Amino acid sequence: MEKRGPHGFLSVQRAMPVFPHKHSIYSILTKKWRKELCSTLLRESSGNWATKHSNEILLIWGVKDEIRKFTETVSTISAVLLDAEAKQHNNEVKVWLERLKDAMFDADDLLDDISTEALRREVMTRNNKKAKEVRIFFSTSNQLAYGLQMGHKVKAMRERLVAIKADREFHLEERYEDRQVRYKAREQTHSVVRADDVIGREDDKKAIVGSLLNPNVKEDVSVLPIVGIGGLGKTTLAQLVFNDEEINKHFEKKLWVCVSDNFDEKIIVEKILECATKNKPAENLQMNTLANDLHKEVNGKRYLLVLDDVWNEDLEKWRKLKDLLMGGASGSRILVTTRSIKVAQITQYCSTALVKGFR
Ligand SMILES: Nc1ncnc2c1ncn2[C@@H]1O[C@H](COP(=O)(O)OP(=O)(O)OP(=O)(O)O)[C@@H](O)[C@H]1O
Ligand SMILES: [Mg+2]
Repeated sequence: MEKRGPHGFLSVQRAMPVFPHKHSIYSILTKKWRKELCSTLLRESSGNWATKHSNEILLIWGVKDEIRKFTETVSTISAVLLDAEAKQHNNEVKVWLERLKDAMFDADDLLDDISTEALRREVMTRNNKKAKEVRIFFSTSNQLAYGLQMGHKVKAMRERLVAIKADREFHLEERYEDRQVRYKAREQTHSVVRADDVIGREDDKKAIVGSLLNPNVKEDVSVLPIVGIGGLGKTTLAQLVFNDEEINKHFEKKLWVCVSDNFDEKIIVEKILECATKNKPAENLQMNTLANDLHKEVNGKRYLLVLDDVWNEDLEKWRKLKDLLMGGASGSRILVTTRSIKVAQITQYCSTALVKGFR
């Protein structure tokens, strides 16, 4: 479930339902694990993995507790993987990493099995015509047996990881620096999404749409950040919101900008202008010209601007950008997606009032 943080931003915590895992970066990366010694990727993907599988499937079969313990173990191991990568020249570390990768690979298979069953359950539930079959499939004894079986398997998997973790005669330090595992060039995102492909985000979408349309927000232009770890579905959620009918009706102008690494005021303004006018601004225009053009586009209009994938933690840069965007009509909103709680907090500090609705 999403959490309303103390600073008023939406923290996307709920794991993806079972389907996305199949298409996520994790499933692609795992194939590479056997070939490459790249524990940076392992850390990144295991982090996603730990959260992605901690929701419906667990509740369904009562294996929640086992999976929770398992994900905790995965995250404690993940914490030292960056250091392990740096120390790969040490043969013992290298062998240990190989064992860990094998274990994670098997864990992935197990979770895949559970996911497939969960998917089957959902499909069968939706298909009322097979009511009898569904009843048998979901009979208490069937569920219980499956739950127990899976619970044992997950437990065994966790014990294997715990043993690998303990079987370490070298010291590894915990590192949490997310920036180090970012890909050098992040893919540009866009506002297009096939709503049918998105599963289990209806409530989140409603909550965000509700907040964006909330007439009681005092500021003319206010910021709502969506925060969550990589791969959790922040961009997807923002895309859903962006294409929502109520949003379409409410906002005069909708703008989508993929920010990523480069929080450069000029570049962002150029991107906003390109989105607003459907034309790339001429090269080498002065900031003054761009700022004036931006004013023309947004001033007096109720706009929704999505700033996707923001990493900037510099408050001053935020203030400058926000100043340029202040001219929007009352009810204008900036929706920010970010992995960083700090970024989310900063977007709140540079607002004169907190976004209401998630407090
Ligand atoms: N609710 C969902 N249903 C189906 N697929 C989803 C859902 N949410 C996300 N996905 C898929 O999972 C993948 C990652 O999602 P997304 O890019 O939205 O994550 P993110 O939180 O924005 O990640 P990052 O922090 O890297 O920007 C994408 O392939 C996306 O299509
Ligand atoms: Mg994203």
